[in-house]
Amino acid sequence: MAALSLELSTLGQLPTHTLAAAGHRLNVDVPGRKWQQIEAFASRLSFATPPTHWLDWCSGKGHLGRRLLQTGQQLTCLEHDPALVLSGQALSQRHHLHALHVEQDVLATSTASLLNCDHTPVALHACGDLHVRLIQLASAVGCKQLAVSPCCYNRISRSDYQPMSSVAARSVLQLNLDDLLLPMSETVTAGARVRRQRDTSMARRLGFDLLQRQLRGVDEYLPTPSLPTTWLDKPFSEYCHHLAAFKELSTIGPQDWSAVETAGWQRLAQVRNLELLRGLFRRPLELWLVLDRALFLSEQGYAVRLGTFCETPLTPRNLLVLAERT
Ligand SMILES: C[S@@+](CC[C@H](N)C(=O)[O-])C[C@H]1O[C@@H](n2cnc3c(N)ncnc32)[C@H](O)[C@@H]1O
Repeated sequence: MAALSLELSTLGQLPTHTLAAAGHRLNVDVPGRKWQQIEAFASRLSFATPPTHWLDWCSGKGHLGRRLLQTGQQLTCLEHDPALVLSGQALSQRHHLHALHVEQDVLATSTASLLNCDHTPVALHACGDLHVRLIQLASAVGCKQLAVSPCCYNRISRSDYQPMSSVAARSVLQLNLDDLLLPMSETVTAGARVRRQRDTSMARRLGFDLLQRQLRGVDEYLPTPSLPTTWLDKPFSEYCHHLAAFKELSTIGPQDWSAVETAGWQRLAQVRNLELLRGLFRRPLELWLVLDRALFLSEQGYAVRLGTFCETPLTPRNLLVLAERT
């Protein structure tokens, strides 16, 4: 299964092209990792017809749009957060770039009137419904080209996945919100310390879970709230006493605390092993979802290229769909 998962996940990098140098200090207000993602994304955009009007979709402060903007081109940024729109405007002014920052909920009906066929829409990490909406609107108004890097496939208004392409619609695969969360469960960006904290927290919860089943005399999982990381500094027995009090459970009698704690770590190992199996479906599922978008665009008359725009450590959401009407 691991070999099959790897085979199904194989995807080439999109070719790079030389990008005009960024304007002076254009990156000063952009977090380092975000700037690298923008550079990688921008360097993959090559279209047969040079863009005349960039449309940065769910632009945040519009960093991507500004990076792409060249002399003679226009830029419109759509973003619904007023604070980001204001900051974006201020940044564009500071860099003497002529950009239009529009406060807009892209899911609103009125968005259709803001798009026209001369736009080249770009979306870097637009969540679920947001990038789906772009793909639908851009193909409906006849944009000649667009570039979309999808993100957060589970952020949709429905409780199940609605395929975009007719090919996916015919598939027997039915996906719910939990399934759609799977592609995002990769945590390459977490450091060793955070991973250790997560492990300890989960092992303790699993140890406590054994204890609460015994205390309640009910062999069922009892949800516990997320706890501050400082709770991990308490001795395990104290942690359990506080959590039991929090859940208003009966008093804990004498326990072999080290045995309960060890059992928690053993259960963590089992959980991690199950996650390994689940993890084999992660990237193939993400590719399936992105291929659905690519196939939809292809059905709308676009020539589509799909590949990665950067390595996984820079961002695990590194897939890019490039579509051009021939
Ligand atoms: C993950 S961020 C990506 C921002 C930017 N493209 C980037 O890569 O830095 C998603 C952006 O979508 C915006 N957003 C969320 N819902 C939106 C909506 N309904 N309409 C417009 N923008 C929205 C958020 O405010 C946020 O700026």
